[in-house]
Amino acid sequence: MCGIVGYVGERQALPILLEGLKRLEYRGYDSAGFALQGPVDFEIKRNAGPVDGLVEVSKGLGLTEKEGIAHTRWATHGAPNETNAHPHRAGEIVLVHNGIIENYAEIKERLTASGVKFSSQTDTEVFAQLIEAKRSRLAEDSPGANPETTLIAAMKAAMAEVEGHYAIVLMSRQIPGKLYGIQNGAPLVGSTLKDGALIASDLQAVIPHHNEVSFLPKGEIFIADRDGIHCAGLKVEKIDWTADKVEKGGYESFMLKEIFQQPMVVADTLTGRLPSDPKSPFIWDHQKAHEVLWKNVKRLYLVACGTSAHAAMAAKYFFERWARLDCQVDIASEFRYRDPVFEPGTVVGVISQSGETADTLAALRLANERGVSTFSICNVPNSTIARESSFQYPTKAGPEIGVASTKAFTAQLTVLCALALDVGRLRGIQSARDTEQESFLGLARLPQDLDHILSRSEEFIRIGETLGKQRIILFVGRGTMFPIALEGALKFKELTYLPAEGFAAGELKHGPIAYIDPEVTVITLAPKDEWYQKTVSNLEEIRARGGHLITLGTEGDRVLEGLSDSFIGLPSAAWGTAPILSAIPLQLLAYGCARALDRNIDKPRNLAKSVTVE
Ligand code: M6R
Repeated sequence: MCGIVGYVGERQALPILLEGLKRLEYRGYDSAGFALQGPVDFEIKRNAGPVDGLVEVSKGLGLTEKEGIAHTRWATHGAPNETNAHPHRAGEIVLVHNGIIENYAEIKERLTASGVKFSSQTDTEVFAQLIEAKRSRLAEDSPGANPETTLIAAMKAAMAEVEGHYAIVLMSRQIPGKLYGIQNGAPLVGSTLKDGALIASDLQAVIPHHNEVSFLPKGEIFIADRDGIHCAGLKVEKIDWTADKVEKGGYESFMLKEIFQQPMVVADTLTGRLPSDPKSPFIWDHQKAHEVLWKNVKRLYLVACGTSAHAAMAAKYFFERWARLDCQVDIASEFRYRDPVFEPGTVVGVISQSGETADTLAALRLANERGVSTFSICNVPNSTIARESSFQYPTKAGPEIGVASTKAFTAQLTVLCALALDVGRLRGIQSARDTEQESFLGLARLPQDLDHILSRSEEFIRIGETLGKQRIILFVGRGTMFPIALEGALKFKELTYLPAEGFAAGELKHGPIAYIDPEVTVITLAPKDEWYQKTVSNLEEIRARGGHLITLGTEGDRVLEGLSDSFIGLPSAAWGTAPILSAIPLQLLAYGCARALDRNIDKPRNLAKSVTVE
């Protein structure tokens, strides 16, 4: 979490820093700040709240400096106020930080005992003070030494003491014209521009300037100056995202834009991968290795967090049915601290939009350390998870900026559906229920079906607008609709801040039915699939207790229409693609309710897009 931007070059730094922060705000928006290297001293400005507040307070300051660092914060240590906002100054240096310093308390105690005064509650200031303490001691010991050599030695010595995953960028009063930093498990992307160098936590802030970037290597100190980025092991890569992909493009929010991009995103994700007929292999990047991997697999763990975990849960149904594969789904934060059984033939697949989620990355590393074959389904090219997994099945959703994930989820489900069909084919399985052929065809026409559902967006948004006064919203589904119900509830709570829970329909009577009264809305997913009759019985039970019913079913289903207060009829869909299509109305219901409540759609409170802390 937290977004870092740094610029040094020929242009005024402040507009570049503020624009970069706006693009990184999805990473956290509790406070924002910048520091510029001025002729007399650093110019530091910090402000509680989102970046717009910082933009406001910096208007008219006439700051024309050409070198600076900036930060947008997702609070971990210390309240989200101005005092704890970055950058943090310590003597000659000023520093911004993303990540967590796990042993900050003991370092702080030691530094305090030696006379260092702290002005914030952050772990960041501890890192800054530690570097500065080491720098000033080294400078005292060798008064004639080059300030850069001393600073780098201090940074290295501090790095050896701090524990945790982090990225820092700093400036020194003694060395104008240069930024210094380290990526140690929290990503930093750098780009050498025509007129200087740009550093940021994520591609979004770099791509509008240049599409040739370097993912800074872990553990290496880098220097940025007017000539570019200097670092051992630096590789330059070309990214095929364009600047327009990180703009709202006329939509009132990124989330709405991303919801409407779903037909295109699914088409992009399938392009070049979908064979011409269901019996032929899907086309993947490493075809031979892919075939070897899946022919020998005995057990599959799918590991992820949040929305990505819901995609994994839906995929379990696909892999079990089409590939007859033992598939276990795990929440990454639990998996990493369990002692999972990795027998020969185990494959671990991690799913992550950002490719940087700390728990998912730790789960991947655990599997890698234990010698298990791993693959990732990530949306951000070259993200840490993508790079550290043995195989990649990338989603092609493009940058997802709304904090609530939408298009990345449908792209994940699309890849998982295609992969499970292909693995079933590779393993020579013909499932008893024979849904492969229709699901293959369903995938091929998925972009058109999504378009059709989106053409009714206003209807879904309007229903969402009516939900703001309900005491709680329950989302219910069976089979592949159960994970979609969980995802519907997650979208709803993230965006509206109202209580929402997802349940397997069969679980209702084991407890949640106690909630039911007229102030409770139950949103049920009941397409005409093999579980339909059972779900209808569950609906009757809710109706009998006076619950308010919104039902998503197959178009023309008179039974559901009669039972429900609102009925959303969706076109009949294949078994494998129905979960993807059903997710769309739920995204729009949540959006409609949140908009009516005047919530911050793209940046719901307390959340961040990229969760790089545990
Ligand atoms: O980037 P990841 O897919 O690994 O992120 C996992 C979760 O943090 C993420 O899905 C989160 O639940 C979103 N806010 C959901 O909208």
